[in-house]
Amino acid sequence: MTDTDNVTFVRALPKAELHLHIEGTLEPEMVFDLAAKHGISLPYSDVAALRNAYNFSNLQSFLDIYYQGVQVLIDADDFFQLTYAYLHRAHADGVVHTEIFFDPQSHTERGISLDVVFEGITRALAMGERVFGITYRLIPCFLRHLSEDAAMLTLQALMPYRQHFCAVGLDSSENGHPPSKFSRVFALARAAGLLTVAHAGEEGPPAYIWEALNDLQASRIDHGVGCEADDALCAHLVATQIPLTVCPLSNTKLAVFAQMSAHNLKRLLDRGLCVTVSSDDPAYFGGYVLDNLLAVQQSLALTPADMVTLARHSIAASFLSDVDKKHHQQRIDKYVA
Ligand code: ADE
Ligand code: ZN
Repeated sequence: MTDTDNVTFVRALPKAELHLHIEGTLEPEMVFDLAAKHGISLPYSDVAALRNAYNFSNLQSFLDIYYQGVQVLIDADDFFQLTYAYLHRAHADGVVHTEIFFDPQSHTERGISLDVVFEGITRALAMGERVFGITYRLIPCFLRHLSEDAAMLTLQALMPYRQHFCAVGLDSSENGHPPSKFSRVFALARAAGLLTVAHAGEEGPPAYIWEALNDLQASRIDHGVGCEADDALCAHLVATQIPLTVCPLSNTKLAVFAQMSAHNLKRLLDRGLCVTVSSDDPAYFGGYVLDNLLAVQQSLALTPADMVTLARHSIAASFLSDVDKKHHQQRIDKYVA
Protein backbone atom coordinates (compact mmCIF):
# COMPACT_ATOMS: atom_id res chain seq x y z
CA MET A 1 0.00 0.00 0.00
CA THR A 2 1.34 3.49 -0.82
CA ASP A 3 1.38 6.12 1.96
CA THR A 4 -1.54 7.89 0.31
CA ASP A 5 -3.53 4.66 0.05
CA ASN A 6 -2.78 3.94 3.71
CA VAL A 7 -4.00 7.37 4.86
CA THR A 8 -7.16 6.87 2.79
CA PHE A 9 -7.63 3.41 4.35
CA VAL A 10 -7.20 4.60 7.97
CA ARG A 11 -9.29 7.73 7.40
CA ALA A 12 -12.24 5.77 6.01
CA LEU A 13 -12.21 3.16 8.79
CA PRO A 14 -15.40 3.84 10.79
CA LYS A 15 -14.18 4.87 14.24
CA ALA A 16 -15.34 6.33 17.54
CA GLU A 17 -13.47 9.01 19.47
CA LEU A 18 -13.84 8.45 23.22
CA HIS A 19 -11.38 10.84 24.84
CA LEU A 20 -11.81 14.38 23.64
CA HIS A 21 -12.01 17.51 25.79
CA ILE A 22 -14.09 20.00 23.83
CA GLU A 23 -12.12 22.86 25.43
CA GLY A 24 -8.99 21.19 24.04
CA THR A 25 -10.24 21.70 20.47
CA LEU A 26 -9.96 25.48 20.85
CA GLU A 27 -7.60 26.39 18.01
CA PRO A 28 -5.44 29.54 18.39
CA GLU A 29 -7.32 31.22 15.52
CA MET A 30 -10.60 30.77 17.41
CA VAL A 31 -8.98 32.06 20.64
CA PHE A 32 -8.14 35.31 18.81
CA ASP A 33 -11.55 35.54 17.06
CA LEU A 34 -13.47 35.09 20.31
CA ALA A 35 -11.14 37.42 22.25
CA ALA A 36 -11.82 40.14 19.63
CA LYS A 37 -15.57 39.44 19.77
CA HIS A 38 -15.65 39.89 23.55
CA GLY A 39 -13.03 42.66 23.84
CA ILE A 40 -10.64 40.44 25.79
CA SER A 41 -6.94 41.27 25.54
CA LEU A 42 -4.58 38.32 25.26
CA PRO A 43 -0.99 38.09 26.53
CA TYR A 44 0.14 37.00 23.01
CA SER A 45 0.78 39.29 20.04
CA ASP A 46 -0.72 36.93 17.44
CA VAL A 47 -1.77 33.37 16.58
CA ALA A 48 1.82 32.30 15.90
CA ALA A 49 2.98 33.59 19.30
CA LEU A 50 0.20 31.68 21.03
CA ARG A 51 0.98 28.50 19.10
CA ASN A 52 4.64 28.95 20.08
CA ALA A 53 3.62 28.82 23.72
CA TYR A 54 2.35 25.25 23.17
CA ASN A 55 5.63 23.79 24.32
CA PHE A 56 4.88 21.65 27.33
CA SER A 57 7.13 19.85 29.80
CA ASN A 58 4.41 17.93 31.64
CA LEU A 59 0.65 17.80 32.27
CA GLN A 60 0.58 20.85 34.58
CA SER A 61 2.45 23.08 32.13
CA PHE A 62 -0.26 22.25 29.56
CA LEU A 63 -3.18 22.70 31.96
CA ASP A 64 -1.98 26.21 32.89
CA ILE A 65 -2.32 27.31 29.25
CA TYR A 66 -5.49 25.29 28.62
CA TYR A 67 -7.35 26.93 31.54
CA GLN A 68 -6.18 30.33 30.25
CA GLY A 69 -7.60 29.51 26.78
CA VAL A 70 -11.12 28.73 28.00
CA GLN A 71 -11.55 32.32 29.23
CA VAL A 72 -12.64 33.39 25.73
CA LEU A 73 -15.67 31.05 25.85
CA ILE A 74 -18.42 33.34 27.08
CA ASP A 75 -21.76 32.82 25.34
CA ALA A 76 -23.70 29.86 23.93
CA ASP A 77 -22.65 30.72 20.36
CA ASP A 78 -18.99 30.35 21.41
CA PHE A 79 -19.64 26.84 22.73
CA PHE A 80 -21.64 26.07 19.58
CA GLN A 81 -18.86 27.29 17.27
CA LEU A 82 -16.21 25.36 19.22
CA THR A 83 -18.17 22.10 19.18
CA TYR A 84 -19.34 22.36 15.58
CA ALA A 85 -15.79 23.06 14.35
CA TYR A 86 -14.62 19.89 16.14
CA LEU A 87 -17.42 17.79 14.59
CA HIS A 88 -16.57 19.09 11.13
CA ARG A 89 -12.92 18.12 11.70
CA ALA A 90 -13.80 14.73 13.21
CA HIS A 91 -16.04 13.91 10.24
CA ALA A 92 -13.08 14.47 7.92
CA ASP A 93 -11.16 11.85 9.97
CA GLY A 94 -13.85 9.16 9.64
CA VAL A 95 -15.30 9.57 13.15
CA VAL A 96 -18.85 8.14 13.22
CA HIS A 97 -19.42 8.49 16.97
CA THR A 98 -17.87 10.78 19.56
CA GLU A 99 -17.98 10.99 23.35
CA ILE A 100 -17.13 14.50 24.39
CA PHE A 101 -15.75 15.68 27.73
CA PHE A 102 -16.22 19.15 29.09
CA ASP A 103 -15.13 20.77 32.36
CA PRO A 104 -18.17 22.48 33.94
CA GLN A 105 -16.10 23.97 36.76
CA SER A 106 -13.73 25.80 34.41
CA HIS A 107 -16.79 27.74 33.20
CA THR A 108 -18.96 28.10 36.32
CA GLU A 109 -15.91 29.38 38.25
CA ARG A 110 -15.79 32.27 35.73
CA GLY A 111 -19.47 33.03 36.14
CA ILE A 112 -20.58 31.25 32.95
CA SER A 113 -23.81 29.36 33.64
CA LEU A 114 -24.33 25.70 32.82
CA ASP A 115 -27.37 26.83 30.77
CA VAL A 116 -25.01 28.61 28.38
CA VAL A 117 -22.56 25.70 28.20
CA PHE A 118 -25.20 23.03 27.59
CA GLU A 119 -27.16 25.17 25.13
CA GLY A 120 -24.15 25.77 22.87
CA ILE A 121 -22.69 22.27 23.03
CA THR A 122 -25.97 20.37 22.62
CA ARG A 123 -27.11 22.60 19.73
CA ALA A 124 -23.87 21.80 17.88
CA LEU A 125 -24.10 18.08 18.66
CA ALA A 126 -27.65 17.90 17.30
CA MET A 127 -26.67 19.76 14.14
CA GLY A 128 -23.53 17.62 13.76
CA GLU A 129 -25.65 14.48 13.85
CA ARG A 130 -28.01 15.89 11.20
CA VAL A 131 -25.26 17.16 8.89
CA PHE A 132 -22.42 14.66 9.42
CA GLY A 133 -24.29 11.65 10.84
CA ILE A 134 -22.00 11.67 13.89
CA THR A 135 -23.70 10.24 16.98
CA TYR A 136 -22.55 11.39 20.39
CA ARG A 137 -22.53 11.21 24.16
CA LEU A 138 -21.62 14.03 26.51
CA ILE A 139 -19.51 13.52 29.68
CA PRO A 140 -18.91 16.33 32.20
CA CYS A 141 -15.67 15.90 34.19
CA PHE A 142 -14.82 17.02 37.70
CA LEU A 143 -11.57 18.93 38.14
CA ARG A 144 -9.58 16.76 40.54
CA HIS A 145 -7.31 19.59 41.73
CA LEU A 146 -10.42 21.16 43.31
CA SER A 147 -12.12 19.80 46.42
CA GLU A 148 -14.54 16.93 46.86
CA ASP A 149 -17.10 19.50 48.08
CA ALA A 150 -16.72 21.50 44.86
CA ALA A 151 -17.27 18.32 42.82
CA MET A 152 -20.34 17.49 44.93
CA LEU A 153 -21.84 20.95 44.31
CA THR A 154 -21.06 20.57 40.61
CA LEU A 155 -22.83 17.20 40.45
CA GLN A 156 -25.89 18.79 42.07
CA ALA A 157 -25.77 21.70 39.61
CA LEU A 158 -25.53 19.24 36.70
CA MET A 159 -28.60 17.22 37.67
CA PRO A 160 -31.17 19.55 35.98
CA TYR A 161 -29.32 18.72 32.71
CA ARG A 162 -29.24 14.97 33.42
CA GLN A 163 -30.90 14.09 30.09
CA HIS A 164 -27.93 15.53 28.18
CA PHE A 165 -25.14 13.32 29.57
CA CYS A 166 -24.60 9.62 30.17
CA ALA A 167 -21.54 9.54 32.42
CA VAL A 168 -19.25 11.65 34.57
CA GLY A 169 -15.45 11.79 34.37
CA LEU A 170 -12.43 13.00 36.31
CA ASP A 171 -9.61 15.09 34.84
CA SER A 172 -6.99 17.79 35.50
CA SER A 173 -3.78 17.49 37.61
CA GLU A 174 -3.38 13.82 38.47
CA ASN A 175 -0.52 13.46 40.95
CA GLY A 176 -1.62 14.16 44.52
CA HIS A 177 -5.31 13.88 43.57
CA PRO A 178 -6.16 10.15 43.65
CA PRO A 179 -9.53 8.94 42.36
CA SER A 180 -10.50 7.89 45.92
CA LYS A 181 -10.78 11.62 46.77
CA PHE A 182 -14.03 11.52 44.75
CA SER A 183 -15.47 8.14 45.83
CA ARG A 184 -18.57 9.69 47.43
CA VAL A 185 -19.29 11.98 44.45
CA PHE A 186 -19.02 9.10 42.01
CA ALA A 187 -21.22 6.89 44.22
CA LEU A 188 -23.95 9.53 44.04
CA ALA A 189 -23.49 9.83 40.28
CA ARG A 190 -23.88 6.06 39.89
CA ALA A 191 -26.97 6.16 42.10
CA ALA A 192 -28.41 8.61 39.55
CA GLY A 193 -27.83 6.00 36.84
CA LEU A 194 -24.70 7.58 35.40
CA LEU A 195 -21.74 5.62 34.08
CA THR A 196 -18.27 6.67 35.26
CA VAL A 197 -14.87 7.13 33.63
CA ALA A 198 -11.66 8.63 35.00
CA HIS A 199 -8.26 9.83 33.86
CA ALA A 200 -5.77 7.57 35.62
CA GLY A 201 -2.25 6.39 34.91
CA GLU A 202 -1.46 9.33 32.64
CA GLU A 203 1.32 10.59 34.94
CA GLY A 204 0.06 8.84 38.06
CA PRO A 205 0.85 5.36 39.43
CA PRO A 206 -0.98 2.05 38.78
CA ALA A 207 -2.59 2.45 42.23
CA TYR A 208 -4.66 5.32 40.78
CA ILE A 209 -5.96 3.01 38.02
CA TRP A 210 -6.94 0.43 40.64
CA GLU A 211 -8.77 3.18 42.57
CA ALA A 212 -10.57 4.36 39.44
CA LEU A 213 -11.74 0.77 38.90
CA ASN A 214 -12.53 -0.20 42.50
CA ASP A 215 -13.54 3.08 44.15
CA LEU A 216 -15.15 4.88 41.19
CA GLN A 217 -16.28 1.76 39.27
CA ALA A 218 -14.97 3.31 36.08
CA SER A 219 -16.23 1.69 32.87
CA ARG A 220 -13.18 3.02 31.01
CA ILE A 221 -9.79 4.39 32.00
CA ASP A 222 -8.70 7.56 30.23
CA HIS A 223 -5.01 7.22 29.29
CA GLY A 224 -4.13 4.30 31.61
CA VAL A 225 -0.75 3.83 29.96
CA GLY A 226 0.85 3.62 33.41
CA CYS A 227 -0.79 0.19 33.90
CA GLU A 228 2.26 -1.49 32.38
CA ALA A 229 4.21 -1.19 35.64
CA ASP A 230 1.73 -3.58 37.34
CA ASP A 231 1.37 -7.08 35.87
CA ALA A 232 -1.68 -7.95 37.99
CA LEU A 233 -3.39 -4.77 36.77
CA CYS A 234 -2.63 -5.58 33.14
CA ALA A 235 -3.99 -9.11 33.64
CA HIS A 236 -7.15 -7.60 35.19
CA LEU A 237 -7.58 -5.18 32.26
CA VAL A 238 -7.19 -8.07 29.80
CA ALA A 239 -9.66 -10.28 31.71
CA THR A 240 -12.31 -7.56 32.08
CA GLN A 241 -11.63 -5.83 28.74
CA ILE A 242 -12.07 -2.50 30.51
CA PRO A 243 -10.89 -0.13 27.78
CA LEU A 244 -8.05 2.38 27.86
CA THR A 245 -8.58 5.57 25.86
CA VAL A 246 -4.99 6.22 24.84
CA CYS A 247 -3.92 9.58 23.36
CA PRO A 248 -0.49 9.15 21.74
CA LEU A 249 0.24 12.73 20.64
CA SER A 250 -0.84 13.99 24.07
CA ASN A 251 1.50 11.49 25.73
CA THR A 252 4.52 12.60 23.72
CA LYS A 253 3.73 16.35 23.95
CA LEU A 254 3.39 16.04 27.75
CA ALA A 255 6.55 13.91 28.02
CA VAL A 256 4.81 10.79 29.33
CA PHE A 257 6.93 9.09 26.63
CA ALA A 258 10.10 10.73 25.33
CA GLN A 259 9.18 9.96 21.73
CA MET A 260 6.49 8.10 19.82
CA SER A 261 8.73 5.10 19.18
CA ALA A 262 8.88 4.63 22.99
CA HIS A 263 5.06 4.54 23.36
CA ASN A 264 3.65 1.35 24.90
CA LEU A 265 0.43 1.19 22.82
CA LYS A 266 1.60 -1.71 20.65
CA ARG A 267 2.77 -3.72 23.66
CA LEU A 268 -0.56 -3.19 25.42
CA LEU A 269 -2.45 -4.15 22.26
CA ASP A 270 -0.37 -7.31 21.80
CA ARG A 271 -0.97 -8.19 25.45
CA GLY A 272 -4.71 -8.24 24.76
CA LEU A 273 -5.88 -4.98 26.39
CA CYS A 274 -8.82 -3.15 24.86
CA VAL A 275 -6.76 -0.16 23.71
CA THR A 276 -8.40 2.68 21.77
CA VAL A 277 -6.90 5.83 20.23
CA SER A 278 -8.20 9.40 20.73
CA SER A 279 -6.87 12.93 20.47
CA ASP A 280 -7.43 14.37 24.02
CA ASP A 281 -6.78 18.09 23.28
CA PRO A 282 -6.02 18.18 19.55
CA ALA A 283 -5.64 21.97 19.23
CA TYR A 284 -2.77 21.81 21.74
CA PHE A 285 -1.10 18.51 20.84
CA GLY A 286 -0.73 18.86 17.09
CA GLY A 287 -3.30 16.49 15.70
CA TYR A 288 -6.81 15.09 15.58
CA VAL A 289 -7.67 11.39 15.76
CA LEU A 290 -6.39 10.44 12.29
CA ASP A 291 -3.04 12.12 13.05
CA ASN A 292 -2.85 10.11 16.28
CA LEU A 293 -3.61 6.84 14.50
CA LEU A 294 -1.08 7.52 11.75
CA ALA A 295 1.58 8.56 14.28
CA VAL A 296 1.40 5.28 16.21
CA GLN A 297 1.03 3.25 13.04
CA GLN A 298 4.24 4.68 11.66
CA SER A 299 6.33 4.83 14.85
CA LEU A 300 5.27 1.45 16.23
CA ALA A 301 4.98 -0.43 12.91
CA LEU A 302 1.30 -1.28 13.44
CA THR A 303 -0.11 -3.66 10.84
CA PRO A 304 -3.32 -3.02 8.86
CA ALA A 305 -4.92 -5.64 11.14
CA ASP A 306 -3.84 -3.60 14.20
CA MET A 307 -5.50 -0.51 12.69
CA VAL A 308 -8.74 -2.43 12.19
CA THR A 309 -8.50 -3.74 15.77
CA LEU A 310 -8.13 -0.16 17.07
CA ALA A 311 -11.25 0.87 15.12
CA ARG A 312 -13.20 -2.16 16.41
CA HIS A 313 -12.07 -1.46 19.99
CA SER A 314 -13.24 2.15 19.71
CA ILE A 315 -16.75 0.99 18.84
CA ALA A 316 -16.78 -1.78 21.46
CA ALA A 317 -15.54 0.63 24.17
CA SER A 318 -18.17 3.28 23.40
CA PHE A 319 -21.38 3.89 25.34
CA LEU A 320 -23.48 3.16 22.25
CA SER A 321 -26.28 0.58 22.54
CA ASP A 322 -25.46 -3.04 21.61
CA VAL A 323 -27.58 -2.64 18.46
CA ASP A 324 -25.63 0.45 17.35
CA LYS A 325 -22.31 -1.22 18.18
CA LYS A 326 -23.27 -4.21 16.05
CA HIS A 327 -24.24 -1.91 13.19
CA HIS A 328 -20.84 -0.17 13.27
CA GLN A 329 -18.90 -3.45 13.61
CA GLN A 330 -20.76 -4.67 10.50
CA ARG A 331 -19.75 -1.46 8.71
CA ILE A 332 -16.13 -2.26 9.59
CA ASP A 333 -16.60 -5.90 8.41
CA LYS A 334 -17.91 -4.63 5.09
CA TYR A 335 -15.17 -2.03 4.77
CA VAL A 336 -12.32 -4.50 5.28
CA ALA A 337 -13.88 -7.33 3.24
N1 ADE B 1 -7.83 18.06 30.81
C1 ADE B 1 -7.68 18.22 29.48
N2 ADE B 1 -6.76 17.37 29.02
C2 ADE B 1 -6.33 16.64 30.07
C3 ADE B 1 -5.39 15.60 30.23
N3 ADE B 1 -4.68 15.11 29.21
N4 ADE B 1 -5.19 15.09 31.47
C4 ADE B 1 -5.87 15.58 32.50
N5 ADE B 1 -6.77 16.55 32.41
C5 ADE B 1 -6.99 17.09 31.20
ZN1 ZN C 1 -7.84 13.85 28.71
